[in-house]
Amino acid sequence: MGQRFRGWLLGWGWGWLVMLGLGLGHPPMALAAPPAPAQPPAALFELHCAGCHPNGSNIIRRGKSLQPKALKRHGVDSVAAIATLITQGKGLMSAYGDRLSPEEIQTLAAYVWARSQEHWQG
Ligand code: HEC
Repeated sequence: MGQRFRGWLLGWGWGWLVMLGLGLGHPPMALAAPPAPAQPPAALFELHCAGCHPNGSNIIRRGKSLQPKALKRHGVDSVAAIATLITQGKGLMSAYGDRLSPEEIQTLAAYVWARSQEHWQG
């Protein structure tokens, strides 16, 4: 191994080292597939929630919208409370605990809370 390696090194000479220095000598890193990007919160919401909550409304139970007043009235007025509701479901809304990861649920809860604070505008 040692001899073959030395011969190989000599064969490629300094060019190899220069390439390494430029970061081009590490193809496995460049070729590796990038990690799948986490879904942005808005896309998660569109996919899982907007069917019943378009624009923060509630097409099934109108009063139970995602507007700050409704959330407050129903005691769902924190990111943690929203995350719990998403995980466990409530009434006609099904539970998402077995469909979404805890991270996705946390992301959605934070998104719903932030959007509610701006009344789902903009
Ligand atoms: C099948 C329709 C449906 C889907 C899909 C749905 N919801 Fe709901 N959601 C409801 C209904 C119905 C209620 C009212 C539940 C109750 O209190 O009886 C509700 C209530 C809520 C509330 C509390 C609102 C309030 O004013 O009390 C939040 C927050 C909420 N949903 C967030 C979400 C999020 C986030 C998603 C996506 C992960 C989602 N929902 C998906 C139907 C749905």
